[in-house]
This record gives sequence, C-alpha cells and structure tokens, in this order.
Amino acid sequence: MLEKVAEIIKDARRGVVLTGAGISAESGVPTFRGQDGLWKQYRPEELATMEAFRTEPQLVWEWYNWRRGLIRQVEPNPGHHALVDLAAHFDDFALVTQNVDGLHRQAGSKLVLELHGNIMRSKCVECQRLYESEEDIDPGNIPACPECGGKIRPDVVWFGEMLPADVIREAFEKSEQADVFFSIGTSAIVHPAASLPMTAKRAGAILVEINPERTPLSELADFCFCEKSGFLLPSLLAVLESSTRA
Ligand code: OAD
Repeated sequence: MLEKVAEIIKDARRGVVLTGAGISAESGVPTFRGQDGLWKQYRPEELATMEAFRTEPQLVWEWYNWRRGLIRQVEPNPGHHALVDLAAHFDDFALVTQNVDGLHRQAGSKLVLELHGNIMRSKCVECQRLYESEEDIDPGNIPACPECGGKIRPDVVWFGEMLPADVIREAFEKSEQADVFFSIGTSAIVHPAASLPMTAKRAGAILVEINPERTPLSELADFCFCEKSGFLLPSLLAVLESSTRA
C-alpha cells in the first residue's frame, strides 16, 4: 500500500492534509476523545464553550493553563517533521489542522491553516482584539481588554462558535482542488473540519486515512493505514524518496 500511495503522490500536483489531535499524541499531547482527554472530571465539551467561560471563567482558564503548560513541554514528533518533507512533493500543498498546539509550525511547516485557532494566543471576549502575550493568565485575576474592558479568553474556537471565515474558506477551496487528501489522526466527527475529506473525495481526490482506529471516514477512504502517524508518515516518506531517486 505504501508503494501505491507513493506512486499516487508522484503523479499528483495538489495535496491537502487534515490533521487532528492524533498527530500530536506521540509528542505527549492528550487527544480529546482518548482516555487521557479528561482534565479533572471534565470533558472538553463542558469547558470549551462560551457558556462555561461566562459562568466559570476561572475554571476554564485553569484548564487552558494546564494545557498550555503541557504544550510548552513537548516537541514536534516524526509525523510533524514528515509532513514538512511531504509538502515538497506537491506543486500546491495545504496543511489544515484542527490542533491548537502550534507543533506543525514548530516543525517547520509553512502556511498552516489553523481551523481552531492557537492556544498560545488570547483575545478579548467582547471586541475580539488579540492580546499579544503567551504568558499564563492568572485565573483568579483575568486581565481586562485595554480597549473595551472585556475579559481575556484563549484565541481558540469553542463549541458552538464559527470557525475563522477566511481560513475555513481556503481549506474548502484547497480540498475541492486536491488530487490527494490525507486525513491524519482525527476522529473525523467534528464539523466542518470533518466535511473537508468528504468534499475532496466527492471532487475526485484519492483519500488516504492514517489512524490506528477506524473512523466514519474509513469506509470512504481509498487507503486506510491503521498505524500511528509518527511511524507511518516517515515510512511513507522513505518509500517516496527512494522511488523518486530511482
Ligand atoms: P479526537 O480526540 O477526537 O481524535 C483523535 C484521533 O487520533 C482518534 O481517532 C485516535 O484514534 C487518533 N490517534 C491517536 N493516536 C494516534 C497516533 N499516534 N497517530 C495517528 N492517530 C492517532 O481529536 P480530533 O479529531 O482532533 O475541537 O478532534 C476534533 C476536534 O474536537 C478538536 O479540534 C477539538 C475537539 O473538541 C475544538 O476544540 C473546537
């Protein structure tokens, strides 16, 4: 299968990758729906909402400080690095991520479309002005926006919120044009991100899934690799690069 996918990549001009929490799992970032996705007794769906922030801002910031602390300690893994190299095999390449951990950029990927924002940034809950500080927020003393006095919140997309319009538009455009689309480390159940692989497939792309577990997408995919991305992606790159040299 790796050889077949390598051949497809060699013939393709436009590639799109969608990543989810699974690509960062081998760096030590807990996934959302895995067993380690809980913080205290809370599920992400209970804390990553405007309602939770309005009623319990202190609790929400405690959770984000915990997640920021985890992310500061981790490094990109071989899966992130392999995607930097994969980009060079396409004339046109887009890396779309649902992750807010910034590890793709840290690995060296350019032009990352961050659908759900970035956990290290903050913004005003009222006027959306960006708050340029990566330092942890004191949950007991949440700063107020210097412009309008609104509370400062993480610059991530919460449940029930719209994705940044220009970013999701570009992600759909790239997906519609893709010759090959990779869905990597995502449970493929949170929309609109989960619609991107389907959009690409309907428009004629070859769909490749990399995930140790099956997802709703597995039925649709042309190739399913039931493997960890930190192992599979470097293996794919090795096959691709040796066949390109041959
Ligand atoms: P999930 O936690 O839903 O899914 C992670 C996926 O990664 C699962 O399907 C795992 O099987 C897979 N996985 C685990 N380890 C892996 C590995 N080493 N290599 C490859 N895959 C692996 O995370 P997402 O799909 O990213 O949204 O979740 C989507 C969105 O739901 C998140 O962005 C977040 C969340 O609620 C918001 O916060 C708006």
